[in-house]
Amino acid sequence: MKPYFVAANWKMNGSQRLVSEIIEAVQGVKSDSVDIGLFLPSPYMAVAASVAGQTMIVGAQHVSQHESGAFTGEVSCAMLRDIGVSAALIGHSERRQYFGETDDLCGQRLMTVLRHGIAPVLCVGETLEERKQGVVETVIAAQLEAIDTSIEYANPAINFTIAYEPVWAIGTGEQASPDEAGEVHAFIRSQVVERWPELTPSLRVLYGGSVKADNVRAFAQQPQIDGVLVGGASLDVVTFTEICEEVAAVAQEA
Ligand code: PGA
Repeated sequence: MKPYFVAANWKMNGSQRLVSEIIEAVQGVKSDSVDIGLFLPSPYMAVAASVAGQTMIVGAQHVSQHESGAFTGEVSCAMLRDIGVSAALIGHSERRQYFGETDDLCGQRLMTVLRHGIAPVLCVGETLEERKQGVVETVIAAQLEAIDTSIEYANPAINFTIAYEPVWAIGTGEQASPDEAGEVHAFIRSQVVERWPELTPSLRVLYGGSVKADNVRAFAQQPQIDGVLVGGASLDVVTFTEICEEVAAVAQEA
């Protein structure tokens, strides 16, 4: 069985001090059955990678689809590799909403990260409006299309993660019920099995959206859910440690 994956997405929050505190607190929870990842603002990635070493995954929240050159403000895959960053979020709904990231752009970024051996976490999810209209699967299928552009660079040695994050559940305190999330996860998995079967050995599907210490267990216990992507609750050392411990407990029981 693949290890569960608990990933923290700090967004534009945190400090150098919090990096050290979180790493120290969760390092003890890391086991063969749980991977822990920190997706950090750019200024903190290098220090986290050097402190966390091989014990944790340090990831970027954004990476350029370009190799190098005149792209002011951008960060390349080669730079991430250079400082020990091994994973990257792609297509988080905030990037789609505020920075115009389209499915096409996500496809180009997926291709670039895979070429550089960086493990992608492709984020997908519907808005409340889309859920009300009953088009969840259509929306998710369209977002998964990004995989098509990049599939030739997929490699079983690079973990491929898809994070299902309903937009209406992000930062709102609302969550999908574990059953609702499980249904969408089953759909995502069936799409991958049907369309990109070469990804299945390395695939993990995470749930994200108002995950907290007191609800994480119910998500992790769903057979279709391989872990969680945690925003707000990952900024508190005690809470994030509890979340990691809860998932580790589920992994033990599995
Ligand atoms: P949240 O964010 O846990 O604060 O809802 C999740 C995310 O955006 O990845």
